[in-house]
Amino acid sequence: MKDIDIESYFKPDLKKARKRSRGTTEEVRFDLADAHEQIGLGKTYLIQTYGCQGNEADGETMAGILEMMGFTPAQDEMDSDLIIINTCAIRENAENRIWGELGRLKAYKRKNPDLMLALAGCMPQEEYVVERVLKTYHHVDLVFGTHNIYKLPEYIATAMFAKEKVVEVYSQEGGIIENLPKVRSHRFKAWVNIMFGCDEFCTYCIVPYTRGKERSRSKDEILAEVHELVKEGYQEITLLGQNVNAYGKDFKDKDYTFGDLLSDLDKTGIARIRFMTSHPHDLDQKTMRAMAEGGHIMPFFHLPVQSGSDKILKKMNRHYTKESYLAVLNQLKQTVPGIAVTTDIIVGFPGETEADFEDTLDLVERAGFDGAFTFVFSKREGTPAATYDDDTPLARKKERLQLLNEKINAAYLAGSKRFLGQTVKVLVDGVSKYDDQVLAGYSEHNKLVNFKGDSALIGQIVDVKITTAKTWFLLGETV
Ligand code: 5AD
Ligand code: SF4
Repeated sequence: MKDIDIESYFKPDLKKARKRSRGTTEEVRFDLADAHEQIGLGKTYLIQTYGCQGNEADGETMAGILEMMGFTPAQDEMDSDLIIINTCAIRENAENRIWGELGRLKAYKRKNPDLMLALAGCMPQEEYVVERVLKTYHHVDLVFGTHNIYKLPEYIATAMFAKEKVVEVYSQEGGIIENLPKVRSHRFKAWVNIMFGCDEFCTYCIVPYTRGKERSRSKDEILAEVHELVKEGYQEITLLGQNVNAYGKDFKDKDYTFGDLLSDLDKTGIARIRFMTSHPHDLDQKTMRAMAEGGHIMPFFHLPVQSGSDKILKKMNRHYTKESYLAVLNQLKQTVPGIAVTTDIIVGFPGETEADFEDTLDLVERAGFDGAFTFVFSKREGTPAATYDDDTPLARKKERLQLLNEKINAAYLAGSKRFLGQTVKVLVDGVSKYDDQVLAGYSEHNKLVNFKGDSALIGQIVDVKITTAKTWFLLGETV
């Protein structure tokens, strides 16, 4: 692949990425140019996706575009003409895995020089990543980011026919691209993007820079997508956004927010509605009411708290306190009785003292979470928290993580035990990873349930009586 003048590449700029334009977001419809329709014929692709559900949904769009161009899925790496690494930038260890993978693929590409290798997703949105790829990872042919997936056909054509390396990363979001094709990875569960970007700017987080400003998809587009999914036999949708509770706040011409969308989706005929992720300070009464009144909105809520210390929450720019978080949580539990709530917690944020950490443990004790994702703070270049003084040794941070996890696991088990003896509805995903006589699926409260049953039940919602509660899963039998 020819390197063009490095300075003329379209590289990311975090200062530009931080800017928020005020105008309304334009809607653009994707259309595959005739010239790109057949260039993938006879060629195969593989997409390796890392990170969140947003990335998984992007991976499905990339697959959709490639298949429109004639590409077919590869059996494995050996059989691939194109490999796309769809990356995550949320923490350093996520990135380290990808650097390792890129290193491994270097040797592989030496054996198979015709292979086209692309780096996509959140990492290319970071300045230092693109610099490092250009300097040391010469075997990467194509680099693009989260804002220009729709230009994939053009990039592939350039790399294939002009034999030129393509590096094009937009620092700022453009319009919302509709009409994108998708190859969904699941037959009866689907991701549905309802908004993109994030305007919260939590001081530790890279996402507002890698995903741009908050912009909501139109209600009509979302409803049309879900009606189509119902027609195709899908049972469950998960609405995606970095902060779904801010849905509609960017609409200039109408008052239509997340609660309204939930109520409208509840009437589409889809059996199950879930959503990810929420910010506590945008969670409103309308959303809680929609959950209580809707028959298809699952009684499950992922509500990241991040810390239980008011001082740390302020330094994180989270706009709530420990007590106000617990008050919202309480209201949610009262409005939707029995709801299962999970959370995200970061330990070892710069300046976190033992007393701050104790506040987090106390919050966990009082919140009654049904589970949590817990992380050690990871410094992200370009974010405000990367410049904060941090004097807690990593070893102590890891100990805090361990102590926190012990408390979370106890809460997890208590949450599971409340289903003992109850009959729950399980959407059957498939056979268990550990025993092919056993089926596995998720209950309405998002608990993993294993039970003996016929594989013909896969894709159906069945009643299962819970007989055993373990920390990570429930065991039961069909009734
Ligand atoms: N370090 C550690 N954890 C982080 N998260 C986001 N940014 C960081 C960071 N720099 C966590 C938050 C968020 C989840 C998706 O990842 O808990 O909710
Ligand atoms: Fe990151 Fe905060 Fe936005 Fe979540 S709400 S994506 S943690 S900036």
